[in-house]
Amino acid sequence: MSRARYGDSAQIVCDNLVRIFKVADLEVVALQGLDLLVDAGEMMAIVGASGSGKSTLLNILGGLDAPSAGRARVAGHDLTAMGRRERTAYRRSVVGVIWQQAARNLLPYLTAAENVELPLILDRRAARRGRALELLDRVGLADRATHRPDRLSGGEQQRVAIAVALANGPAVVLADEPTGELDSATSAEIFELMRTINAESGTTIVIVTHDALVSEHVARTVRIRDGRTSTETRRRTEQGDDGSAVVAEEFALLDRVGRLQLPRAHIEALELSERVRLRLEDDHVGVWPDRPTDDEAER
Ligand SMILES: Nc1ncnc2c1ncn2[C@@H]1O[C@H](COP(=O)(O)OP(=O)(O)O)[C@@H](O)[C@H]1O
Ligand SMILES: [Mg+2]
Repeated sequence: MSRARYGDSAQIVCDNLVRIFKVADLEVVALQGLDLLVDAGEMMAIVGASGSGKSTLLNILGGLDAPSAGRARVAGHDLTAMGRRERTAYRRSVVGVIWQQAARNLLPYLTAAENVELPLILDRRAARRGRALELLDRVGLADRATHRPDRLSGGEQQRVAIAVALANGPAVVLADEPTGELDSATSAEIFELMRTINAESGTTIVIVTHDALVSEHVARTVRIRDGRTSTETRRRTEQGDDGSAVVAEEFALLDRVGRLQLPRAHIEALELSERVRLRLEDDHVGVWPDRPTDDEAER
């Protein structure tokens, strides 16, 4: 019997995820062994430079693309072994996706309410309209229900997109650069709205962005570099004598089989290469370069 590993109960589990794109004779490795765990009810951000694999990861989690190797599981659905019918049902009711471009989120010739009704195709007509209005109210757009996207501001369009993503009550909302086309004040409003939704309904929210400012709105930010998760920053508010302060702490990530990636700066500072010595202490593990110790050098 295999022993339970930490993370088995997480809502999003990625183990050693690989995605290779073949373009003509070239192979592009977009994800090269990515590990990620997200608990139900979390709101977290994934940041990384352009081309680091963020959209590739989101497309896989959204059921729009399949990994070349590795495992991905979301809310009990194994994304590597989903048939077509399960995939369609998964995309309709388990995940909601918000894209950067409003044009990809909304149909231009439908009103805000009609856009929100679209994913509710399986509901009865009267129920659809009621639900759409309720969702628009939740994102602060009750008075814009009959407007078409071109009569809404960029921020309002993304609010409608959030309502669309929430329409079928998904367990997980995925957002790919949702504020990429918005100014910083409007971006902050959108992040706050997502935070309210997360707090009120417990929907898990994963935001992918190259905007490092997102970290100010979430408790946990995971950085991906070259198609792999590299470090994680956790923020918490600490209550001190002279008020409260936000404390941010950076961590290295340990994957589910125990692999640890050292930050490049640490590797360079100690000129680590190929092998390191590990020493287990009572409360920590030491990492030493594989050079003769002073004692050995003297002999
Ligand atoms: N459909 C595709 N075909 C070929 N290469 C792709 C495709 N999608 C992404 N890539 C490549 O994979 C890498 C990661 O891309 P992407 O996931 O879009 O990064 P990000 O969203 O972080 O900017 C890039 O080198 C990109 O060119
Ligand atoms: Mg992208």
